[in-house]
Amino acid sequence: MRVLDALHHIHDNIDGSLSYRWICRAGQCGSCSILVNGKAVLACQEEVKETDEAITLDPLPIFPVIKDLVIDPGEAYDKLMKCEPYLKREGKYERPDVLKTEDIADVKKFRECIECWCCVSACPVVNQVWDDYFGPMVMRKLCELKVDLRDVGERVDTALNEGLYHCTTCRNCWEVCPQDIEIPEKAIEHMRALAVDEGKGPLDSHNSLVQSIKNYRNPWIMPRARRAKWAKEFDLKDKGELMFYAGCSPSLLFGERVPSNIIKILKRIGIEPAYLGKDEGCCGSPLLKVGERKAYDAIAKANIAQMKAAGVKTIMTTCAGCHKSWAVDYKEFFGDYGIEVRHVTEILLDAYKKGLFKFKDLPKNHIRVSYHDPCHLGRGSGVYDAPRELIKAIPGLELIETERNRENSHCCGSGGGVKTGRPEVAIKVGQERIRMFDKLDVEYVITCCPWCEQHIDDSIAASGSCLGRTKDLIEIIEETMEIGRDE
Ligand code: FES
Repeated sequence: MRVLDALHHIHDNIDGSLSYRWICRAGQCGSCSILVNGKAVLACQEEVKETDEAITLDPLPIFPVIKDLVIDPGEAYDKLMKCEPYLKREGKYERPDVLKTEDIADVKKFRECIECWCCVSACPVVNQVWDDYFGPMVMRKLCELKVDLRDVGERVDTALNEGLYHCTTCRNCWEVCPQDIEIPEKAIEHMRALAVDEGKGPLDSHNSLVQSIKNYRNPWIMPRARRAKWAKEFDLKDKGELMFYAGCSPSLLFGERVPSNIIKILKRIGIEPAYLGKDEGCCGSPLLKVGERKAYDAIAKANIAQMKAAGVKTIMTTCAGCHKSWAVDYKEFFGDYGIEVRHVTEILLDAYKKGLFKFKDLPKNHIRVSYHDPCHLGRGSGVYDAPRELIKAIPGLELIETERNRENSHCCGSGGGVKTGRPEVAIKVGQERIRMFDKLDVEYVITCCPWCEQHIDDSIAASGSCLGRTKDLIEIIEETMEIGRDE
């Protein structure tokens, strides 16, 4: 049974006044979009599972509600129309239009949009500043027209005016898109790259970050040698089958506690990864996000070559952005380079399951905590379970999930160059995330990403929330692990 069938049943047998939209019943018209358990879906495509005890249905957020599940999408259409969503031609043109398949290959996927508005309702930025950011659906349309060879409109300028650099690339729009349109990577990042090519991007506020990566191979304007300071005490080899890619932010921010704790933990259980030291460079993710594709390509290719030269078979990451770079983006752009990529929590969970370590009690015996899925680790790379299983294995920690978690998690607001380029937007999105944690009566939030960690703390401060300092899961594991397992 689909949710739409359930709605028909309620309408026909229980409450004839129930209002909801549908036309095609086949996922084509886009009219039946609603929230099911907090996630935007098409009611005609969403199954009611036998295991569902209850499901919660709501109208799509943001839009005015006409009645029950029927929303008024007028404002969304107004914004779309403001962007002139039709082909603009130059001079006279032949009729009929003769198009080669290869000429419209890039356009085709974007044209599959059925205007259901799921993406708009799921966008964390639209939910905060819809007037400043017209949202994923409009950006998709502008990109569709930009890559159409017949169109002569100033699409990049329009996208810039309507908030191209507001998107955090959290992928929630893609997650809920019934047509599987890859808006963050294929529309947003592509349009940003075109903006850079046309000399119109990135934002001025991105410049120091971009120049720093080009000059110092980190975004924090710090000398190259500084990134390996945390590793001095460990005497790690620079070649080996398992390579720890520490990343810029873990290596240079927060007192470098995460990378050094990772090595301490691994050494205790007999795993000694290699580490490139000062020769490790930025993964380039910030460059990709702001549209600096040429610099990104050069850095990414050099990074892959460096790993191959070091004989690496598995790269172990800690930062969510680095993980997505190595596990997803490099493979998307340059093909499978033959090296496995694993997040440190996946490696530690395997070790825990093999009995290589156990957890001792925390000093306080019952702590309610929540977990924030970093967008680039969760929706970006599909790592949801390993951090949760480890948290649940620590005695005394009780994991309380927010209303938005896993695939439907809410962005913290810091990704996609937004924290640097549009800090006021980042904080608004972050404050919404904090409101979700505040409802749970938890002591603090755990995450696995330095950007999320920093931004959640900034958002806590801006919200006046009573949440404690956000912790990277590694910190807690280092405090609580013991070698061996109880019989
Ligand atoms: Fe047309 Fe669901 S009824 S998409």
